[in-house]
Amino acid sequence: MKDNEIKLLEIGILKGGSLLMWRDYFKKGIIAGLDCNEVTLDDNTGRVHVYRGFQQDTAILDTIRTECARDGFDIIIDDASHIAELTYYSFWYLFDNHLKPGGIYVIEDWGVGYWDKWTDGKKYYLKLPRDYKTYKVNLIDRFLGYIYKISNKKSPSSKSSAFLRRGCDFITAIKRKKKFKSHEYGMVGLIKQLIDEVGMGNLTAPGHGTIDNWRGSIFKSIEIFPSLVIIQKDETAPLKILNS
Ligand SMILES: C[S@@+](CC[C@H](N)C(=O)[O-])C[C@H]1O[C@@H](n2cnc3c(N)ncnc32)[C@H](O)[C@@H]1O
Repeated sequence: MKDNEIKLLEIGILKGGSLLMWRDYFKKGIIAGLDCNEVTLDDNTGRVHVYRGFQQDTAILDTIRTECARDGFDIIIDDASHIAELTYYSFWYLFDNHLKPGGIYVIEDWGVGYWDKWTDGKKYYLKLPRDYKTYKVNLIDRFLGYIYKISNKKSPSSKSSAFLRRGCDFITAIKRKKKFKSHEYGMVGLIKQLIDEVGMGNLTAPGHGTIDNWRGSIFKSIEIFPSLVIIQKDETAPLKILNS
């Protein structure tokens, strides 16, 4: 994207240093920044635009799109409040309306959700999931494995095989349907919620899912790093078209 005429929006810009960095990196890019505090920048290219306002204020987000990126943004970076409720509003509003199909949305510093002292964070009290060393394959596991094997071997489509498999599925479900407890506060909870969007195809699958009207995920991918989450919008997902 480096040499393209990209449109980038960063929310939360502090003194504006990152905007100047993006301006120099994307030589033909239009760079917009939003912060709730006044920020003045020394830029002589005319490619950097700074706005004052809140990330959760959809009116200011609309204004920035209209003035800087009528065809939509290629990249949006949220380094603003790191408060999940506010991050949630601006994420979905911008992702649905103002990010181009195939565009990239970055959410920074999601790990603050593990901190008790952070506004909407909470200390992590659950044990870390590392129980595998103690697991032993027991008799029931072996028995179910054996039944699956013979039901598949002898005419897998027959009624008796299907009956056996359903029986095994039932016993397995009773044994294994477990809740894997998870930390869900603040930014951590928000990022985990985004996983549900990745699973949308299964969530809306007729006969299995709990939401009507099948649809695939509007995320092409989500990459989760220690301090960053990078979500790419699917090429087929919509973008709000502005009237000329
Ligand atoms: C971590 S700093 C941004 C650093 C900047 N991105 C950089 O790399 O230099 C966070 C900024 O977000 C701004 N901010 C906090 N809450 C905000 C909100 N609700 N809407 C807009 N900006 C907000 C703060 O004023 C602060 O300047």
